[in-house]
Amino acid sequence: MKPARILDAGDAKAIGEAAAVIRQGGLVAFPTETVYGLGADACNPLAVARVFEVKRRPRMDPIIVHVGSPESAQLYGRFPIEAAALMRRFWPGPLTLVVPKTGLVPPIVTAGLDTVAVRMPAHPAALALILASGRALAAPSANVFGCISPTEARHVAEQISERIDLILDGGRCAVGVESTVLALDGAGPRILRAGGVPPEALREVLGGLEWSIGSSSRPEAPGQLTRHYATRTPLVILDEDDPRAEASPGERVGLLALVTPRNIEKFAAVEVLSQSGNLREAAANLFAALYRLDSMGLDRLVAHAVPEEGLGIAIMDRLRRCSARETS
Ligand code: TXA
Ligand code: MG
Repeated sequence: MKPARILDAGDAKAIGEAAAVIRQGGLVAFPTETVYGLGADACNPLAVARVFEVKRRPRMDPIIVHVGSPESAQLYGRFPIEAAALMRRFWPGPLTLVVPKTGLVPPIVTAGLDTVAVRMPAHPAALALILASGRALAAPSANVFGCISPTEARHVAEQISERIDLILDGGRCAVGVESTVLALDGAGPRILRAGGVPPEALREVLGGLEWSIGSSSRPEAPGQLTRHYATRTPLVILDEDDPRAEASPGERVGLLALVTPRNIEKFAAVEVLSQSGNLREAAANLFAALYRLDSMGLDRLVAHAVPEEGLGIAIMDRLRRCSARETS
């Protein structure tokens, strides 16, 4: 196939074209506030099967259903009572709720599970596409499975352009890390993936909240695979003063740091995530910075740890998975 056309996500005509592609069972990459998604009609199993193929995603890994309103979410999932307060506070936005599914959701979307992940995205182009197509969108992140998630249209184009129908370019994603995935399946609320809504904010609404994010090869949410979000260049997380960050003679080392560090001379390239140390800004810049460092053919990447609070929790989660050498 030839490369997918890239259209301006802010253009109503482009949204109309993209909606027609979705209705015909095609695949559209579109911006959300978290990362770019690769969307298909959630109720068209053939279209969803193509999403798995394009991403080279294991069929056991279920896909999030994106809806245009809390009301239409009820068509796909059976939401418990506490979901209402969460939707009011965090929708539209980077919170995905995993709840028992309805019969409308094809098994391929949920990988055969009896639960479904549902979220209402905040990006106006995502909402416009859902509305114009009249469909819920099954949409994983628009990257090849295991690689870095795309936060710009050109990240999508570089990875999967030849295998999809259309890319809507909405500029850079404002949140920059994927949605928080929260299970509300009767067994007590559990965070399955750290993401754009920090746990502190969820606790304000829920009170009790568990984590279910351990590292394992048979995770409750497959986004928990130990090695995921991987750069091709090996990456290690080190403290600023760790001597192992030093390049050996002839070695080219790239640095990813929250704020401008001391001793930057010894690095071949440096990416600063937020001059002021703001963790929201850092999350928004994270994947693009990793893309740039990874495209330089460096020998190794060093990331400085960031504080594990707010969006820092999701940032450290992604960096740890990126640094894991293999799935264990
Ligand atoms: O921000 C996001 O969530 C982005 C944008 C495009 O919306 N999407 C995204 O999708 O990150 P994906 O497929 O890359 O990650 C979805 C995560 C996976 O870890 C998947 O295993 C989990 O959600 N998930 C989906 N359905 C699930 C279910 N029924 N039970 C448990 N986990 C589920
Ligand atoms: Mg993903």
